[in-house]
Amino acid sequence: MKRYMVWWGALFFLVMFTSLYLMLETVTSPNTGSLARSEAMEGMEAKIHMIEQDLNKNKELIADIKNWVGLLAKGDDNALGHLVKLVNEKSGDVVAVPKKDDLVKDQAQKPVAVPEALKQDSAARETAKPGEIYEVSPGEKVTVSGSMCSLSSSKGANADIDMHQVVDTLPFDNPDGGAWKQGWDVKYDPSEVSTKKLKIFVVPHSHCDPGWIKTYMDYYRQQTRNIFENMLPKMEEDSRRKFIFAEISYFSLWWDELDAMRRDRVKKLIDGGRLEIVTGGWVMPDEANTHYFAIIDQLLEGHQWLNGTLGVRPKSGWAVDPFGYSSTMAYLLKRMGFENMLIQRVHYSMKKYLSRQQSLEFMWRQQWGESF
Ligand SMILES: *[C@@H]1O[C@H](CO)[C@@H](O)[C@H](O)[C@H]1NC(C)=O
Repeated sequence: MKRYMVWWGALFFLVMFTSLYLMLETVTSPNTGSLARSEAMEGMEAKIHMIEQDLNKNKELIADIKNWVGLLAKGDDNALGHLVKLVNEKSGDVVAVPKKDDLVKDQAQKPVAVPEALKQDSAARETAKPGEIYEVSPGEKVTVSGSMCSLSSSKGANADIDMHQVVDTLPFDNPDGGAWKQGWDVKYDPSEVSTKKLKIFVVPHSHCDPGWIKTYMDYYRQQTRNIFENMLPKMEEDSRRKFIFAEISYFSLWWDELDAMRRDRVKKLIDGGRLEIVTGGWVMPDEANTHYFAIIDQLLEGHQWLNGTLGVRPKSGWAVDPFGYSSTMAYLLKRMGFENMLIQRVHYSMKKYLSRQQSLEFMWRQQWGESF
């Protein structure tokens, strides 16, 4: 009695497991949202049909089992042999659950979408052709898709300094010491100073973040507004004083508050070239993560305000706070008629390198194209 109860239990479990697995597979199969609704319905119908078939199969199986178990209970010794045979045959129908190791192996064999432009080193970038396979690191190969930007395979501008190469050679060691924390000892010969004076440019400026740790309006009420309010009388006190400002989101906010008389005073400073708008975008944009469309969009916003309100067209870019810079910004500003730009937040190792080469002033060329 006990023996065939165990068999009965085991087989019942097997059948239930098979049904549950098939049902779960149906429910969790990925829903391709892009498929037309009718196609999805057809797929659903097919699945339901499959479940029906499986259920019928299971019904037959259970009937068989019942039959043999019945015979076994009646003392038919052959019944046990038949039951064993049935289990061995039918267990082949059970869908094997993939083991975790198999899944991992499967993943590894699947082609991984590699962002080609990011994966290539600078040498490959210069020569990459669609369809060819490049080994980007030992054992790692990528194919350049036909849809890759064709400019990325151009040879690039001739430049005295190729930053791709420079970055590979810089130690980025951050030594602690010296006038610059990174170990740059500032020395000069006093006798040289008396004959050839060092020209130092002091640029009074303010950089105001419309979005950082305070809200746009909190910054304005607590800080930015005061900067503007102090700037105006202080500039008027001494005609040698100059000031630059970049973020039009704030400048326009202040301007909107001014009465006609104070607007005239500001206009006078601007027309006299003492108050200069630099870059003149709505913000000082991030350049590392932003799409160029967004950069252009906020520049348009600021420049349209400047042209429409003050008749001002900025000539110099001023980017003292973005965490990382893009040569695309240099390209965009040049195309907008800018004549100069300044960047600041560059790694000390890089500044040191350029300083030693006396190349802190440079024309920034893009990897692609020859014209700028
Ligand atoms: C700049 O403003 C002037 C005067 O209002 C206008 O004629 C001109 O079209 C504007 N330029 C641009 C690029 O919007």
